[in-house]
Amino acid sequence: MLRTRFTEEFGVEHPIVQGGMMWVGRAELVAAVAEAGALGFLTALTQPTPDDLRREIDRTRALTDKPFGVNLTILPSINPPPYGEYVEAIIDSGIKIVETAGSNPEPFLPYYREAGIKVLHKCTSVRHALKAQKIGVDGVSIDGFECAGHPGEDDIPGLILIPAAARVLDIPMIASGGIADARGLVAAMALGADGVNMGTRFLCTRESCIDQKVKEQIVANSELDTQLIFRTLRNTARVADNEISRKVVEIEKAGGTFEDVRELVSGARGRRVFDEGDLDAGIWSAGLAQGLIHDIPSCGELIERMVSEAEELIRARLGELIA
Ligand SMILES: Cc1cc2nc3c(=O)[nH]c(=O)nc-3n(C[C@H](O)[C@H](O)[C@H](O)COP(=O)(O)O)c2cc1C
Repeated sequence: MLRTRFTEEFGVEHPIVQGGMMWVGRAELVAAVAEAGALGFLTALTQPTPDDLRREIDRTRALTDKPFGVNLTILPSINPPPYGEYVEAIIDSGIKIVETAGSNPEPFLPYYREAGIKVLHKCTSVRHALKAQKIGVDGVSIDGFECAGHPGEDDIPGLILIPAAARVLDIPMIASGGIADARGLVAAMALGADGVNMGTRFLCTRESCIDQKVKEQIVANSELDTQLIFRTLRNTARVADNEISRKVVEIEKAGGTFEDVRELVSGARGRRVFDEGDLDAGIWSAGLAQGLIHDIPSCGELIERMVSEAEELIRARLGELIA
């Protein structure tokens, strides 16, 4: 057992989190993570309406009695979803842990607090983590430059970001980005984190709902197989290398605007990758951790292996270094 401030304060067995993943954070995955003693997050916006989210929460509860949470990502959008109604669905359903991401969670914090919900805020810099601590979140999850999805614009990898954040934060902190095995877990703890968050690693598990061909591509890919799109828009996203992501980067380099790539990066195209296994249909999020992923285990196998290897690593390999 690895016990940290995070496991104590958030009431989970292992210091391992499965972060929100658009189109992927559904009942089967989240319940499998919970059953294995880690903390999984349903992704609210994967559900088309707040009522669908209520049903997905019920579906997860039918699969596990253990705690799980909901991720609500608030990104700038031309037609924003009804965020307030998703918050209501989360609160009414009796969820006790929320992962916020994408923007400042302050407007909704009083509602979460009143409902006794713990808030784990995902951010990408020390200054945003400090701000989140100041406004009263219960923990932060900090994504380094390695991560899948949105790494921010500072380009600071976890090796620097996590200890820099640990030096100034008082609340529990989860290291995120580029972690896929026990070595990453132990390293994160050594850097001052209270646990780890993983996206790409959980994307490539048996219970993740994506097409088998995508999982096999993750196993085949190395740490070199990502692209950073939307750099020119200052809204960087790390996605898997494929025909479409390379084309988007080319168009941006040639001075193109969002209008020039809008169709290529559409959510509908991205979903075809996950649903149909058409690897070049659109863009799909994946991080540098692809270079550390060599199999497609169940969540139970993955978490059990990470925890037991981490204990072994701390006791034997690191213990033996002391003269
Ligand atoms: C397919 C996919 C979709 C994601 N969607 C979201 C999302 O909707 N909201 C969010 O906060 N993070 C999202 N993320 C980021 C993850 O929660 C996590 O922070 C990130 O994957 C950590 O980096 P790693 O992939 O190196 O483990 C997504 C990641 C992946 C792989």
